[in-house]
Amino acid sequence: MLRTRNGKCFIGGVAVSEIAEKYGTPTYVYDEKRIRDNYRRAHKAFSKYYPDFRFFYAVKACNNPAIAAIMKSEGAGIDAASVNEILLAKHIGLGGGDVMFSGNFLSDDDIRQGLRSGVIFNLDDITILPRVLKFGSPKILSFRINPGYGRSNVGDFVTNAGPGAKFGVHPDQVLDAYAAAKKAGIRRFGAHMMPGSCITDADYFPFITGLLMDIIGKVGRQLGIDFEFIDLGGGLGIPYRDGEEALDLDKAAKKTAEIFSSKLREYGMKPPRLMMEPARYFVGDAGYIVGRVHSIKKSYKKIIGTDVGMNTIARPVLYGAFHNIVFDGKKSKRTEKAGLCGQLCENTDFWVKERDFPADVKEGDIFVVENAGAYGFVMSYQYNGRLRPAELLVNNGKCSLIREREDFKDLVANTRLPSHLK
Ligand code: LLP
Repeated sequence: MLRTRNGKCFIGGVAVSEIAEKYGTPTYVYDEKRIRDNYRRAHKAFSKYYPDFRFFYAVKACNNPAIAAIMKSEGAGIDAASVNEILLAKHIGLGGGDVMFSGNFLSDDDIRQGLRSGVIFNLDDITILPRVLKFGSPKILSFRINPGYGRSNVGDFVTNAGPGAKFGVHPDQVLDAYAAAKKAGIRRFGAHMMPGSCITDADYFPFITGLLMDIIGKVGRQLGIDFEFIDLGGGLGIPYRDGEEALDLDKAAKKTAEIFSSKLREYGMKPPRLMMEPARYFVGDAGYIVGRVHSIKKSYKKIIGTDVGMNTIARPVLYGAFHNIVFDGKKSKRTEKAGLCGQLCENTDFWVKERDFPADVKEGDIFVVENAGAYGFVMSYQYNGRLRPAELLVNNGKCSLIREREDFKDLVANTRLPSHLK
C-alpha cells in the first residue's frame, strides 16, 4: 500500500522520489509483500471452506516473469490466454497440469503448440473440439461455459459472459460438447467459466457458482462424467475509489463453498477440485506508476502535463476507469481543480479531465498512480514513439529492476528497411 509520511510517498518502504531519481519515470512499481499478502488472504479464505482449492494466476493482468514467479512460489498455477503465455509459464518452470490454456478463437498453430506443451485445454466453443482432435487429444479437457450472465464493476467492456459476450459455450450446447469429447476417447474433464471482472459484491460468486453447477451437474449425470475440477474464473474485485467498499472475501468464499457443496450433493457428483483464476485481486492494488510533472499550463483550464499518458495506462480512456493520483511531498491540503494528461498527440490522452489536485503542484513534481498493477503495464504501448516504462519490484526497502525501460532500439526492433529505401 502507498504510505505517506509528512506528505512523502513510500512504496514497500522505498521513497518514490528515490525511485524516480534512480530509475526514471514513468516506472511501474510492484510491492512484493502486498502481492503475497493479497494472495494468502484470498487463498486462506477459499481453502478454509473448501480445502481442495487452487488458484491459477491469470498472467494476462501483469505478465512480468518476476510477478508470475511470486505466484508460483505461493503455489499458484498459471492461466494462459495464448501460446506465448504458456511459454511464459514454462519460462518460470510451470507446465502440464499447472497451466490452463483458455485461449479463444485459436488458430491451428495455437492448437498444435498447446497440445505439444501438455497443458490443460479449456475450449471456448464446441467447434474447436474437432480441430483439436485433428492434431491430438488433450489429457484433460474442459469447456469454458457461458452461463448466460456476466457482470463487471468497470464497465460493460469487461463483462465476459452473458448474451453480449464473445466467450464461452452456450448452455444448450454444453451436453453435446462433453458428449463429443467423450466419444472421441477423452476421459478426464473439467469445467470452466469467467463471467465477470472486478466484482466487489460477495453474493456474485455463489450466484455464478450455482448457475454453472446447474449446467454441469446435469451434464455429468447424463454422461457419467466425474469432473476433476471446476474453475470459477477470476473476478475478485478491488475498490478503485476512496470510500468504495472492499469485497467481503470471507463471505464470498463461505457462500461459494456452501452452494458448491450443496450442488455436488444435489447432482450426486464426486467432489472435484475447486479452482479460480483471479489476477486483479493479487496484483491490482500492489502496483503503481511513478510519474513526473513536466509542465503546467493555464489555458482554457489548468492542465498538469505529465509523462503518464494513455500509452502508459490505457484503462481510463478505454473503460472510463478511475485511478487515484497522489502527489509526492505535498503537505498542504489546499486543492485546485485541474486536468491531467500525458504527452501524446491526441486529445484522448487528456485522461483526467478535471479533478481536485494539490494547488501547489509544480514542474518536476513526482506523483503516483494507484491500483495500476493489473492490466497496467501489459496494456501499455509505443504510440508517438513514447516507449514502454520500466518495471520495478520493491520489497521491504529493497528494489529490483524487473524490466528495463525501452529505448530507441525497441521502437525499430523487428523492422527492416527494404534495400530500395535505404
Ligand atoms: N480468467 C480468464 C479466462 C480471464 O479472461 C480473466 C480476465 C481472468 C481470469 C482474470 O480476471 P480478474 O481476476 O483479473 O478479474 N482489461 C480489463 C480486464 C479484462 C479482464 C480480462 N479477463 C481491465 O483493465 O479492467
